[in-house]
Amino acid sequence: MKLSIIPSPYETEYLTGFTKATAPVTEYDAENLPADGFELHIDGSIRIGASSLSGFFYGRQALSQIMFQCGQNIPNVHIRDIPRYTYRAFMIDSARHFTSIADIKKMIDYCAKLRFNVFHWHLTDDQGWRPEIKAFPVLTQKGAYRKGSHFGAEQNEDVYGGFYTQDEMRDIVSYAHANHMIVVPEIDMPGHVSALLSSVEGMACNGKKVEAKTTAGIFRDIICAGNDDNYDILYEILDEICDIFPDSYIHIGGDEAPKAQWKDCPVCRQRIEDEKLRNEDELQGYFINRINKYLKGKGKKVITWNESLKGGNLDEDITVQRWMDPKELSKASPNAIINSDFYRYYADYPYAMTPLKKVYEYEPQVNSNVVGVDTPIWTEYVADLEKTEYMCFPRFIAVAQTAWCKNKPAYSRFRQELTEMLPWYGFTSIADESEWDPSGVTRLPRVVKHFGSISKNKRIREFFLKK
Ligand code: ACM
Ligand code: ZN
Repeated sequence: MKLSIIPSPYETEYLTGFTKATAPVTEYDAENLPADGFELHIDGSIRIGASSLSGFFYGRQALSQIMFQCGQNIPNVHIRDIPRYTYRAFMIDSARHFTSIADIKKMIDYCAKLRFNVFHWHLTDDQGWRPEIKAFPVLTQKGAYRKGSHFGAEQNEDVYGGFYTQDEMRDIVSYAHANHMIVVPEIDMPGHVSALLSSVEGMACNGKKVEAKTTAGIFRDIICAGNDDNYDILYEILDEICDIFPDSYIHIGGDEAPKAQWKDCPVCRQRIEDEKLRNEDELQGYFINRINKYLKGKGKKVITWNESLKGGNLDEDITVQRWMDPKELSKASPNAIINSDFYRYYADYPYAMTPLKKVYEYEPQVNSNVVGVDTPIWTEYVADLEKTEYMCFPRFIAVAQTAWCKNKPAYSRFRQELTEMLPWYGFTSIADESEWDPSGVTRLPRVVKHFGSISKNKRIREFFLKK
């Protein structure tokens, strides 16, 4: 009998005979194993060895999977397991739609079973500011709310919003730690900041007034990078964020920041001249480096999305999260890279565009600097936990397999194991198995239907949403 364990073990040695599932489980120190690694011996007795608490946690999970499929008698086996990557992340966007604390915990429960060890929490965006910041109460009094929601089928003028108190965020940090995960908060800047600009006035270029957005998209309203007061405001915000989130990384966004307003702004132009920068892309590098310097002084490591590489002046100690494939990445670069390939790892795309097999077979080591992976669920069109689960599972499991296994089995074997093990995860609402890999002929019409139904054009949308 071949056991089904996902993520798949690095080394499995099957022995003869069986061990009673009721045998006591003992633990021992296995100093030679890396963090997260474990050994599981089932051979008359059951023993788990590890050098870290997370290793024991994952060893017990592997044992739980074995017990789930074997019942009373477990075939004797020795397993030795070590992770491929030390950074194994999933991301939830709680800005476009608010995720309740209970739902975040549910996702952490699921993802701990996938041996993800990083919860990347996208907390701010154009459509809402979520973290309570005591120095700027206006952020959650105003920036946490928008005057309607216009996202595909969801069309209304109702005030929508919500925020997390600092105690609630600390509770999530404790919960994640208990599940052997760190939390990486993302405060997106200098773009995706309409909710911030709507509440703390004076941060936009040319004194522009800005409202939190009610639609999806990329918006021109970004933080004025020439204004020194803005850095002081951001430092104050980040002081509180660092205090709430004690783990090593802070993500400062850097994606999709259109430069039109920087081009038109005398303060930004002056900054470009004073700092001898060549253009607005270098100004973004300057902006991100300046925040990096501040956060480094507080003992933090910074992550930015790949757009910040474009100026060519990004500090080399900043970790870059790749979602697209800009030419700057292919140049030899010392920046550590987290791979979030959007075409494979964005779980908000329909299965017709991103089938399970495509996610599973993707090889994320696009260059030697890749240190891990991160699979995001963006939530413009994902309003609740039910849809979140539907989109994320089982695709997150395929990413987890790649993140953990140095030598993952063929897709056909993974599918067999997944079918067997699916009830073990305890999901409440996931896509039917028939949905995971839609056939070639049905994929294109489904992709067209998806993009039609989320179109900003009312007539196109109505056409696709017609029953
Ligand atoms: C992104 O998808 N804007 C990182
Ligand atoms: Zn400016």
